Order: sequence, then structure tokens, then C-alpha cells
Amino acid sequence: MKNSVPVITIDGPTASGKGTVAHRVAQTLGWGVLDSGALYRLTALSVLQKGIDPADPRAVAQVAESLDVAFHSTGVLLEGCEVSAFIRQEEVGNLASRLAPNPALRAALLERQRAFRQAPGLVADGRDMGTIVFQDANLKIFLVADVRARAQRRCKQLIDKGFSANLEDLLADMRERDARDIKRAVAPLLPAQDAHVVDSSTLTIEQTVQSILDLWSRV
Ligand code: C5P
Repeated sequence: MKNSVPVITIDGPTASGKGTVAHRVAQTLGWGVLDSGALYRLTALSVLQKGIDPADPRAVAQVAESLDVAFHSTGVLLEGCEVSAFIRQEEVGNLASRLAPNPALRAALLERQRAFRQAPGLVADGRDMGTIVFQDANLKIFLVADVRARAQRRCKQLIDKGFSANLEDLLADMRERDARDIKRAVAPLLPAQDAHVVDSSTLTIEQTVQSILDLWSRV
């Protein structure tokens, strides 16, 4: 049976601005938001904390299945501890991207992600929101931006948060992560056939949000 709760999916490469844009669109519509990358990052953090072998797909999937997480308005708790800043670190993002091709891990996170679909609506951001998790989404966006623009944004974000950052290292990292996300066999980073591709390289966040709201108003 078709789910009547509307969903807008926003997929795209790392640092394309998906997170900020998804939050603003959700805020404007009064909807909930799913940051699916956070679930992969939380799994990576938990793998690091528990000393699990990242190369053991079953053990990693078990970590994802038993993740004790709670999202709240300003952050996220892992086993009761606030970890929002930790999961944003490059080390955690990189490990998340190395774990993400594991089909058992992706299967373990599937229902957890679908459970975010609650009235009055959901904006879901990630890599496979439109292709796998919410194939019946009412509007699918594939948000792209030039890799240098993305590295510059990520660099500024990290520095603003008090972390050290180097643009050339970030650029190399981002190219590697994009390639891994695009080339993987399971749920690769690709626009859904019915997705609208939005290039935010030369758009402000407000303009990007507005272009998505315009598309939504025409659905
Ligand atoms: O979006 P974010 O950078 O937080 O995601 C971290 C990593 O998790 C990505 O590099 C990607 O490999 C993985 N991911 C994924 N599918 C999603 C969201 C994130 O594979 N839906």
C-alpha cells in the first residue's frame, strides 16, 4: 500500500550542502528531517569506540543493528553521550564511507531510516534516499556542486567549529570519497531516474532552498 506521508529526498556527494538545505526545506514546510549520513557516521564512531574490526562485515552490521541513538533538536546521543561534534570529524566520515559498501550494514539501517517517515512529512538527505530507501518519494533532488566549491565549504565549516583543516588534503579526501561512493556495487551514489539535478556551485543556500521549494510547489 502506498505510504501517504510525503517525502522529499535530497541525495548528492559529500559537502554538497545537502544537510543545511534539507534542514531549511524541512523547517519551511514544518516537516521532520532524516540525516541518513549521521547513521553511517554513528556506526563508524561506535565501531571505533568498541574496537570492532572495520573489515568484519557481520560485526559492523551488528553494531548498526544495536545502535542506541537518539536524535534531538540540537544534536544526537550515542549510548546517552552527546556526539554531534565527534561524528563530524573527517576520520569518522572517512570510516563511514569505507564501511558504507557493506550490504549487511545497509540492510541493518534500512528500517531505521524508513521509520523517520512520520506525518506531516519528511525531508531525507543522503546518497540512496531516492534510489533505495524512499523509492516512492514525492520529489527527488540530486544536489551537486563542483568539488573545489565543496572542499572550500567543508574547510570553512571545520575551521568555524574549531577543528584544523587543510584545503588540499580535503580536496584529495573528497575526490577519494566521491569515487568510493559512486563506484560501489550496492546503492551507489547516482541520481534516481526521476530525480531533478540541482547544481548549487554558484547558488547561495537560500537560492538552493528556494529552487527546491519551487519544484515542490509544482508537484
Ligand atoms: O553524508 P555524510 O557525509 O554524513 O555521509 C557519510 C558517509 O556515509 C558517506 O561518505 C557515504 O559513504 C555514507 N552514506 C551512505 N548512504 C547514505 C548516507 C551516507 O552510504 N544514505
